[in-house]
Amino acid sequence: MTLDEIDKGGFQHFMLKEIMEQPESLRNSIRGRIIEEEGDVVLGGLADVVDKLASSKRIIITACGTSWHAGLVGEYMFEQFCRIPTEVEYASEFRYRNPVVEKDDAIFFISQSGETADTLAALREAKLKGAFVLGICNAVGSSIARETNAGVYTHAGPEIGVASTKAFTSQLTVLALITLLIARKKSMSKIDGKQLASELKLIPDKVEEILNLNDQIEKIAEEFKDATNFLYLGRGYNFPVALEGALKLKEISYIHAEGYPAAEMKHGPIALIDENMPVVFIAPKDSTYEKIVSNIQEVKARGGRIIAIITEEDEFLKNLVDYTIKIPHTIRMLMPILSVIPLQLLAYHIAVKKGLNVDQPRNLAKSVTVE
Ligand code: G6P
Repeated sequence: MTLDEIDKGGFQHFMLKEIMEQPESLRNSIRGRIIEEEGDVVLGGLADVVDKLASSKRIIITACGTSWHAGLVGEYMFEQFCRIPTEVEYASEFRYRNPVVEKDDAIFFISQSGETADTLAALREAKLKGAFVLGICNAVGSSIARETNAGVYTHAGPEIGVASTKAFTSQLTVLALITLLIARKKSMSKIDGKQLASELKLIPDKVEEILNLNDQIEKIAEEFKDATNFLYLGRGYNFPVALEGALKLKEISYIHAEGYPAAEMKHGPIALIDENMPVVFIAPKDSTYEKIVSNIQEVKARGGRIIAIITEEDEFLKNLVDYTIKIPHTIRMLMPILSVIPLQLLAYHIAVKKGLNVDQPRNLAKSVTVE
């Protein structure tokens, strides 16, 4: 790490610096890995195992915290494009329950630090069972990176803020690259591969556009900084983003927040909704849009205050909700990389307005190396 890299670079906090660095960190995650004219990717760390990976009968993804949320998005990606059954499990659960591991399974361990005690122990347990183990790590040369059979570095650069931001979006990017690699080995056509690859290349510029909304999001934060509870709702690929948005808020602002798949709202959280329960909806114009709109109407009917992340000028939603944050469009699998950015900024600004220690929140550690 150079001094320059660990400097706050003029920002008030490392967390804001790292949020703002995302166009660059994502470019670094992608750099040299996409062969656009072939609609394919090269990942040096998987070169020797790509056939084995593509012929896996099942993928298991194991991680903790934010990395586990990235894993949930990975599940949607692998199942949609690679057609390989995928399970995601907390490392702490995986390691203690004598999991069934078959010889045709591929097990991914996602970890920013590469040192998280539970993830490392899960990896060792899986190896003991003879599993084929792969790492997705940010810290080069870390224990998880060294002890896996193969893997891919995220190249997000050093992350200092305890609440993970740029490491998360880089994990999603690497998962998308791995998805494309496997899918092209299997049944994905060159044309479809090219489309995915070119969408992926556009992501850093789109993230830059979203970061320009910083002032708008700061104003919204001012309105909501005194809330004591928050609900985050999304569907499909954006369900894990709802979990991640809620985690960011609770980690640094100490506001109780929960993430749910939007349709599950009626099975519990709806009982909590009133004017004191702000709800963040991730509502891009995709195949689940109509369903999300009806969830929004249900919240409105109960007096809930709503912030909606939308992807198109949407007069209808604008009239229905209290605040909209408009982000650019992309294909469904890549949407989490965009939709999480406003949620990072919202959590950040709320915590700053509450005068809290954003970079080192109470009771939390950047890397949990003990049990
Ligand atoms: C801690 C950090 C989180 C992180 C989690 C997993 O809880 O505060 O930001 O997501 O550990 O860490 P890892 O380094 O394995 O991704």
